[in-house]
Amino acid sequence: MPPRAGGSLDPGGPVAAEIAELWWILLCLGAGVFVLFMFVLIRGLLRRESEGVSDRSGLFLVVGGVIMPTILVAVVFAVTLIAMRAIPSSATSDPIVVEVTGHQWWWEISYPDLGIRTANELHIPVGREIELRLTSADVVHSFWVPALAGKLDLLPDRVNTLILQADLPGNYTGMCAEFCGLQHANMAIEAVAERQDSFERWVAQQGSAAAEPVAEMAVEGAEVFLSAGCADCHTIRGTPASGDRGPDLTHLASRGTLGSGVLDNNPESLRDWISDPQAHKEGIAMEDVGLTPNDLDALVAYLGTLE
Ligand code: CUA
Repeated sequence: MPPRAGGSLDPGGPVAAEIAELWWILLCLGAGVFVLFMFVLIRGLLRRESEGVSDRSGLFLVVGGVIMPTILVAVVFAVTLIAMRAIPSSATSDPIVVEVTGHQWWWEISYPDLGIRTANELHIPVGREIELRLTSADVVHSFWVPALAGKLDLLPDRVNTLILQADLPGNYTGMCAEFCGLQHANMAIEAVAERQDSFERWVAQQGSAAAEPVAEMAVEGAEVFLSAGCADCHTIRGTPASGDRGPDLTHLASRGTLGSGVLDNNPESLRDWISDPQAHKEGIAMEDVGLTPNDLDALVAYLGTLE
């Protein structure tokens, strides 16, 4: 599937299309006012001083300074209201419910009806309404995937609902849009819109418990995971690891990035990440737990099996 970069003006679904349309209307209105204003200004500058003030100056002031701005503001108000009404504030059909919790600095994503918990990657089927229930575990964050919907804050102790839909398959990158601390700029979210059948495959895979490690190295790595303290913060379903401070790692290897977009997810960067998380994302809760090179290799081998 070719990744779609997608921005606010390249909408991938109906909600974003409404916002893009409104933006174009406002741009055209603004451009029209600008051109008219420049025309009048240049004309005034070129007029010879000797011509003096014409009799029609009063009328010009009333039309240009009162009537026209009033009409324009009314039009802007009207098209904005129309766009706001067209953007659903609650689901109209049978939506897929996704709970999104903002953390410093990553996204916890769970599908309560599907038994799935993941991080930083929002998988959705195309052509279906998605009801995002947004909340925060710490400070205020803001969910923004420009190609799919507008921004909405994630607040502690409150749930905000954002409805979105993707009509075209592709990867849509989003960002936290509310300053939330040191790593605010490293809080990317990837929305992956897929056709129904590949979404169902993803659901089946993510809903399952972690695969038992088979290779000797991976078996050793699973023990390291439990004994080195990783399990205090991370859950791997199907194992005793049930920490909830950091991302659920049950299917870590299926995700595209580490640290919410900081590194590509591959064995080499995973090794780097675990051996010195603060070097890659200063200020996060994860610390170097001081593994020996051998244990680190085993751990990376194990985490690589968590497809
Ligand atoms: Cu989270 Cu900015």
